[in-house]
Order: sequence, then C-alpha cells, then structure tokens
Amino acid sequence: MRTFIICKREHRLEIPEKFKEYDNRSPEEVVEYFIKEFTKPGDTVLDIFAGLGTTLILAEKLNRVPYGIEYLEDRCNYVTSIIKNKENMIHGDTRKLLDYNLPPIDFVFTSPIFMSKNETRNPLNGYKTEGNYTKYLNDVQKIFTDLKTFLKPHSYITVMVSNLKTEGLTTLAWDIGKTISDIMRFEGEVIIGWEGPRDRESFGYDHSYCLVFSNRQ
Ligand SMILES: C[S@@+](CC[C@H](N)C(=O)[O-])C[C@H]1O[C@@H](n2cnc3c(N)ncnc32)[C@H](O)[C@@H]1O
Repeated sequence: MRTFIICKREHRLEIPEKFKEYDNRSPEEVVEYFIKEFTKPGDTVLDIFAGLGTTLILAEKLNRVPYGIEYLEDRCNYVTSIIKNKENMIHGDTRKLLDYNLPPIDFVFTSPIFMSKNETRNPLNGYKTEGNYTKYLNDVQKIFTDLKTFLKPHSYITVMVSNLKTEGLTTLAWDIGKTISDIMRFEGEVIIGWEGPRDRESFGYDHSYCLVFSNRQ
C-alpha cells in the first residue's frame, strides 16, 4: 500500500446543477485506487455515507457489487437513478445500520460527514437538531461497531477524513482514527496531497487522510 498520493481535487463525473453548491464528493481517482487495491471483481463494496454515489458508481464500473446508505433523499434518489443495482442504494440513517438487510461486505470506502469541535448542530441528521462534537464521535464509534457485524473476516475499510482549520482547529482525522481503532485494527494511513488551488472542501489543509482498518484481530 502506498502512503502518499498526489491527486487533483477534481471530478470526472458530472452532477446535476442543484448539487454543485455542496459538492463534497470524494475524488474518483482516490476511490478507484482503494477499490482496486482491496477488492476483486464480484466483491461487495459498501459506502455508509454514500453522498452522490462515487463509491457505488465506481464499484459498479469495476464490476464489484455496490451498496450504499445516504440520509438525504434527493442525493439517494440521484444515485439510484444512475446505478444499475438500484435496490442496493438505501435511503436511510447509517446510525441504524443494524436495521438494514446488508449482505456480508468485502470492502468499505466511506467519507463521513465532517464536524468541527465548535459546531452546535448535528451533521448526522442533516443539522436538524442540536449536537456536539463528543456526541458525534460517540455516534461514529457506534456506527463502526455496528458496521463490523457486516464485514467478512479479514476485510478492509478505508475512511477518508481531514483535520479541519475552518472554525478553529479540529483534529477530526486523529479523533476519528482513534475512535475506529478502538474497534478495528488500524493498518495505516494514506495521505492524499491535493494539487492545485484549494476549494471549500479542502478544510484549510492541502491534504486529507485515507485511514485503513481491517477486521483482523
Ligand atoms: C462527505 S459526504 C460523502 C460523499 C461521498 N463520498 C461522495 O463521493 O459522494 C457525507 C454524506 O453523508 C451523508 N450523511 C450524513 N449523516 C448521515 C447518516 N446519519 N446516515 C447516512 N448518511 C449520512 C451526508 O448527507 C453526505 O451526503
């Protein structure tokens, strides 16, 4: 596994105009790299924060079987409209993962909705209620604990996350890394160095992390 990848923060896939203002997709180059690294054709690939479906679209293109969960209905409907395995895209809440009928999973690529430590709304329910960083990290820990029950033995997961400079410093990547490594074996990180100008999704840094964990003991 490489430990440093330079990548343009660009997307080959066009999206409808209405999603462009909050385009927080993971770049295809990164997602494709990890799917190829950790899976083979026919494997099941899950994204528990599916967003606009980059993981599902690329998994399908590479002849893997995609599964996804997305909280926002319009995003979920958009993904369903463009993938072939439509029934595998769930409009739901990944905090209720155990309620869904997911098959055994070979690989997870996901990028959670981010939260900075000073934020007071809950990003895990579309900012509908109040929230705080400690509760967010507890929810993330429960999500990954539940996720483990669907993972095949020896499978890998990759979590793309950044530290944040946007509203004061938040060590989000470190905190999520620690949270998940309490549950799964931390296999290492791949630093994604962003080439070119920063945009609002750069969160103040010119790099992100893909944290790799395995289901091994
Ligand atoms: C960083 S984006 C993921 C982008 C995705 N990797 C892509 O390339 O399109 C995080 C997504 O998680 C979704 N989300 C937030 N809370 C959720 C929850 N409780 N259950 C499922 N999805 C959730 C958000 O609506 C958002 O679309």
